[in-house]
Amino acid sequence: MRIISPGDSVSTFGDLEAFALDVLVGLSEMNKRLPSKYLYDAEGSRLFTEITRLKEYYPTQCEKETLEKNKDRIVSQIGDEPFNLIEFGSGDGQKTSLLLDHFLKMDLDFQYVPIDISRSAMIELCDELDRRFPLIQVEAIVSEYFSGIKWLNNRSERKNLVLFLGSNIGNFSHAEARVFLRNLWSCLNSGDLVLIGFDLKKDIELLLRAYNDCEGVTAKFNLNMLARINRELGGQFDLSKFRHFGTYDVFSGAMESYLVSLEKQEVFIEEIGRSFSFGPWEPIHVEYSYKYLQSDIDNLARETGFVVREHLHDSKKYFIDSIWEVKKSENNTSE
Ligand code: AVI
Repeated sequence: MRIISPGDSVSTFGDLEAFALDVLVGLSEMNKRLPSKYLYDAEGSRLFTEITRLKEYYPTQCEKETLEKNKDRIVSQIGDEPFNLIEFGSGDGQKTSLLLDHFLKMDLDFQYVPIDISRSAMIELCDELDRRFPLIQVEAIVSEYFSGIKWLNNRSERKNLVLFLGSNIGNFSHAEARVFLRNLWSCLNSGDLVLIGFDLKKDIELLLRAYNDCEGVTAKFNLNMLARINRELGGQFDLSKFRHFGTYDVFSGAMESYLVSLEKQEVFIEEIGRSFSFGPWEPIHVEYSYKYLQSDIDNLARETGFVVREHLHDSKKYFIDSIWEVKKSENNTSE
C-alpha cells in the first residue's frame, strides 16, 4: 500500500485563498452562488455518507444493487488482462468494496489506484482498505484526477478501468460534463474502460423527496457550506437565518439546491474583509444534480470519443452504471 503525491497538490494556504476568492466572487454576483465542491469538508463528507443511508436517497441503494447484480458482467467486460482499477472520488468506499471483494474472489490481476486531491481522505481510505483487503495492491495518488492518470500512464503499461460512480457526473453542467469526459478520454489509451454512474430522469416526487429528506440531513449538508465559511474564513453566518430549498427544473432536468435567506441581513466574513447583504428570501445557489435519459448518455459517450459497451440498470431502472470504451484511431491517439 503506497500513497504517492506527484507534486501538483495545492498547499493548505493556497486552498484557503482559493476558497475565499470563490466565496467573494460567488456572493458578489446578482444571483448569488457557492461552488458545490466546497460542500465536502470532513463534516460535509460525513453528512453526505449519512445521506447515502437515507431511505429517500435512492441513488446509492440503486447503484449498489446494480453493481451487485452485474459484477460478473463487469468482470467479463474487463477480460483477463492485468489492469489498473482507477477511482475518482471514492467517498466512503461502500460500492467500491463490493467490486474489490468480487475481483479478489475471481482472482483478477489488478492494482487499485484511488485518486483524490485530499491527502487526509486518501490516508483514511488506505487505512480502511488495509484492514478490510490486506491482499489488494493499492497505489493511492494525491493529485488532481487527470494529472494522477497521466502520472500513472507514464509508469504503467496495464489496461485501465476508471470508476466514476455515484452520479458525481450529475453535479456538472452538461458543458462541464463534456469537457471533463473529453479530458478523461485524452488521458486514456484506446481500449481502456470507464464505469460511470448516471442518475436517470424519473417521477419528480421521488426526486424531490430524495433531496428534501424528512430527517433534514440534506438541509444540514447544504447549511454546512455556511458553517464551513464560518469555520475556515471567519464568517458570521447565523445558520438559523437560512433554509435549504431543493427543487427540480423541468427544462434543464436538474435538481437544484439553494440556501435561502429568511430575512434581510448583513454577514461579515473576516478573511474577505467585508460584509455581504442578503434580502429577505434571497437565494444562494449551491448545487446542480442533473438527471439523464439513456439516450443522453449515448450521445454524451459518442460526443466525447467513447463507445458504450453496456448499460447496467437496477431493477427499478432509476440509475445506470454505464461501461464505456475509449476509441482512438491512428490519427487521434491524444489531444
Ligand atoms: C455527490 N452527488 C452525486 C450527490 C447528488 O445526488 O447530486 C450530492 C447530493 N446532494 C444532495 N444530496 C446528495
